[in-house]
Amino acid sequence: MTPADDQGQGLDHARLAHAVALRDALLAEVGQVYIGAESTVTLLLAALLARGHVLLEGVPGLAKTTLAKAVAVTLGCEFRRIQFTPDLLPADITGTYVFNQKLHEFELRKGPLFAQVVLADEINRAPAKTQSALLEAMQERQVTIEGATQILPEPFLVLATQNPVEQEGVYLLPEAQIDRFLVRIRLDYPTLAEEVRMLQTYNQPVPALKAVAGAVDVLELARAVDAVHVEEKLMHYVVRLVQATRAHPRVALGASPRASLGLLRLSKAWALLAGRDYVSPDDIRRLLPAVLEHRVMVTTDAAIEGMTSAAVVRDVLQRTRLTEGQPGVTLPPADLTLGERNA
Ligand SMILES: Nc1ncnc2c1ncn2[C@@H]1O[C@H](COP(=O)(O)OP(=O)(O)OP(=O)(O)O)[C@@H](O)[C@H]1O
Ligand SMILES: [Mg+2]
Repeated sequence: MTPADDQGQGLDHARLAHAVALRDALLAEVGQVYIGAESTVTLLLAALLARGHVLLEGVPGLAKTTLAKAVAVTLGCEFRRIQFTPDLLPADITGTYVFNQKLHEFELRKGPLFAQVVLADEINRAPAKTQSALLEAMQERQVTIEGATQILPEPFLVLATQNPVEQEGVYLLPEAQIDRFLVRIRLDYPTLAEEVRMLQTYNQPVPALKAVAGAVDVLELARAVDAVHVEEKLMHYVVRLVQATRAHPRVALGASPRASLGLLRLSKAWALLAGRDYVSPDDIRRLLPAVLEHRVMVTTDAAIEGMTSAAVVRDVLQRTRLTEGQPGVTLPPADLTLGERNA
């Protein structure tokens, strides 16, 4: 069966072309304020279309906030930014009941979580209680206020930023919570050419970004992701890759089944944005680091020796074959452009 055989339903040429057009429009628009690899912006978009939340990590001044805000604005969704601070309380983000003097009753004042795209900026500055409220909302897509459940809008996408440099007053996210992010994107320093281009750009007034899509497009494309075809063989490949992190001798905590599911969904979204209605093995290999690196914890010994989760993921990628039980069948080297920027 060729990939094209059994999909067709729903993913016609027009829908694929729509996905590619949106990607190009978004890249052009975001590119006006964020200078960096297009693959980074595409990965962000793919994660959002896969209905996943994104953790953007990088040292101060790498344009984490700039990039997250640009993507949110450009997608044309209802957007809120929450600056996380040490005194931020759960109710400050979820909302609270306030007494209405005129009506003599309590009414719900919804917090900033009630938006389609939420930028949770510097998430590691808030205490664990508030982080939990956010992460619960990310998983459940609903919040509980005074015992009553409130459904969050659709789409509901969280872009969180965190600065990995140890500073005073910073609360690192616990591993269990980090698992709720579909991808972690680690921003790197710009290349020389990019940084010079940034200086040139900022000689002129920074352009105001405009929306190139709307919530309806985002939901439509998220549904199109569901219709992207994945061969049975590739599902096995995904699971074997994820399971290999659990069996790895230098690993204390491997990736969860949530990671397998996430990798599959993200690969489908990535394929859609490339104008394809089927996932290729290369999609999976290219996306693996972004999905797994933040979920894999190496053993204490391995950490002391300087081994990182990125190295484990690279190792797993090299050892795991596309087809099981065929000794000698190895893959050509994966295109790790994205992985390297991400490592
Ligand atoms: N790659 C880049 N492209 C365009 N502008 C950049 C880039 N890197 C840094 N800048 C500029 O540097 C400044 C800092 O960016 P921004 O505030 O988004 O960084 P940040 O990563 O959120 O930093 P912090 O961790 O301190 O919050 C902005 O003026 C931004 O436009
Ligand atoms: Mg910032």
